[in-house]
Amino acid sequence: MRTLRDINELRATLRDYRLKGQRIALVPTMGNLHAGHLALIATARQHADVVVSSLFVNPMQFGPGEDLDAYPRTFEADQRQLTEAGCDLLFAPTVSALYPNGLAAQTRVHVPEVGEGLCGGSRPGHFDGVSTVVSMLFNLVQPDVACFGEKDYQQLAVIRKLVADLHMPIEIIGVPIVRADDGLALSSRNGYLSEQERAIAPTLYRTLCELRDALAQGESAEQVLQRGKTALYDAGFTPDYLELRDATLKPVAASTRHAVLLAAAKLGPARLIDNLSVQLP
Ligand code: PAJ
Repeated sequence: MRTLRDINELRATLRDYRLKGQRIALVPTMGNLHAGHLALIATARQHADVVVSSLFVNPMQFGPGEDLDAYPRTFEADQRQLTEAGCDLLFAPTVSALYPNGLAAQTRVHVPEVGEGLCGGSRPGHFDGVSTVVSMLFNLVQPDVACFGEKDYQQLAVIRKLVADLHMPIEIIGVPIVRADDGLALSSRNGYLSEQERAIAPTLYRTLCELRDALAQGESAEQVLQRGKTALYDAGFTPDYLELRDATLKPVAASTRHAVLLAAAKLGPARLIDNLSVQLP
């Protein structure tokens, strides 16, 4: 695997692949890779001749007081894992390479509606930061296909709308959530948890499973969500949100059958998110 930090070098390298008619896949990451990221690489491998991953801890998507400085940076280990997973090219730019004029002067991409509420509500500006950096990566790499995890369900919906609204010729593939044996969705932020908090953390997924089963049996959403919030508080979480939406993140209607339960909750120093699809009766 080649690692490139320079934009011009990236463009020249990709031009060669493109001239040979090879299909390019992109997997954007912020590093500190785990099996969830590697599942995206494996999916990308199935859809393209050349797999490009990016590693960039994007300052624009972190709010004031969030964990930008604390975010785990494990570059060498990430390189090793990507090589073993069959990634061809790693693009790891510096902050000043992507934002040469600083964040304040930077053109931003805003995706309305689907990016509002949920994580967009508790993290103002977060999805503008994601949409901006992902647009930039799409322009730099010009992939045929890009893979994103369903773990960040709202992020995936934002990217799908971004690509559709701006007529970008990129196929977006959603990859199912990779979980630990006890159900906890893998996340770079799980590393912030103490041993005791790590033991509590799977309660988030277990609670979502219980709520899914109750909803599937026809219990009212209001009642189920209230019970879920109480269960999370009782376990030691501070819930940010717990909501039921349709699969496109619109409010659930009487006719909705495919819905999704989405949760974000703080546990000690970590903010965990998870979601689960629900079949309504
Ligand atoms: P990051 O949190 O590093 O995640 C990179 C990709 O891995 C995202 O598409 C995310 O949904 C996926 N992912 C993370 N954990 C996963 C899991 N347990 N199962 C499946 N997929 C998982 O998301 C970002 O970075 C950034 O916002 C980014 C898109 C790179 C823009 O900066």
